[in-house]
Amino acid sequence: MSLEFSARIARIPSYPVAGGYAAEAPPVRLASNESPFPPLPPVREAVERALQTLNRYPDPSNSLLRKRLSERYEVPSSRIAIGNGSCDILLAAGEALLEPGAEVLYAWPSFSVYPHLSAASGARAVTVALDEHERHDLEAMLSEITVATRLVLVCNPNNPTSTAVPLAQLADFVAEVPPQVCVIVDEAYCEFSTLEDPDASIELLDRHPNLALLRTFSKVHGLCGLRVGFALCGSEELPLALEKVRQPFFCNALAQAAATEALSHQDAVIDRVAATVAERISMDERLRALELEPAESQANFCWFSLGEREELQVLRDLEHRGVLVRGGSALGREGNLRVTYGSSRENELFLTALAEVL
Ligand SMILES: Cc1ncc(COP(=O)(O)O)c(C=O)c1O
Repeated sequence: MSLEFSARIARIPSYPVAGGYAAEAPPVRLASNESPFPPLPPVREAVERALQTLNRYPDPSNSLLRKRLSERYEVPSSRIAIGNGSCDILLAAGEALLEPGAEVLYAWPSFSVYPHLSAASGARAVTVALDEHERHDLEAMLSEITVATRLVLVCNPNNPTSTAVPLAQLADFVAEVPPQVCVIVDEAYCEFSTLEDPDASIELLDRHPNLALLRTFSKVHGLCGLRVGFALCGSEELPLALEKVRQPFFCNALAQAAATEALSHQDAVIDRVAATVAERISMDERLRALELEPAESQANFCWFSLGEREELQVLRDLEHRGVLVRGGSALGREGNLRVTYGSSRENELFLTALAEVL
């Protein structure tokens, strides 16, 4: 006799996880948009210090982390929400904003967690195709807003396609969204964008109480193993609602300590971004030399079509050579690959393997 689950369990898609975790020889991991850089020594020391007091619950209001974020981004602490990873904030926002009869609007392909929000809540997902450059078509998205729209998600730069829309376009878009509709701009990769200053979007918050900018310590700070993200919000409304739908102590003590310390090392962040951007430029050239056409990446990963080649076969052949990347069929577009930029050595191993496979 099998268990009887709620109807929503049948609706919720499984998150497309990367494989290779049980492999004996460590593979080249370019499948999850992680940082190739280990945590900085002072961040590790902060974690070690926090280990001493693990018999105590973590600060439930994440006050020191929110204070430091507030100083860093000049957004009042009451307008900052913390999450157990930024995914946690996305799912909590879905719970707080959505219900049957409501609509959530996003582009597709985009981040694979977004479909969970409608499935979990019973709201309707409205998706809008990307444009011919694999970028968000913000005008088309605007035309899909209805009286039922509660939440609009814009992933900028977009996962999995790596492309970004310029701030001016985003600003025009947000200005057209009705004020009762929450707009979450998912900026998990914004620090890697060279289109403009990654912090330039923050000024939009003062004009738009319905806007939230979603950020994470997982990517540029290389702390995805600890799970901590945050949202900078245009008003206190969303942080207060998110508090209600989550368990207390959702952000653990080690994550709070590491993230708080990480904010004091902006120079290292800038160096790491510069190294990633150098890899991006080199990878783009090398892929083009293989007659591939990557989308214009503003992130720490690239996205390209395999043409007539069979995606699954290419993935298997790369894995056989010890390289893990992501196939587009798990991410919304079959026949594409999404490849994270690793260290120079890892990228070289990937490119050698890819040249052989193709
Ligand atoms: C666009 C986007 N948003 C959010 C996340 C979630 O990151 P985390 O939950 O680790 O903060 C990811 C992770 O890959 C992502 O690609």
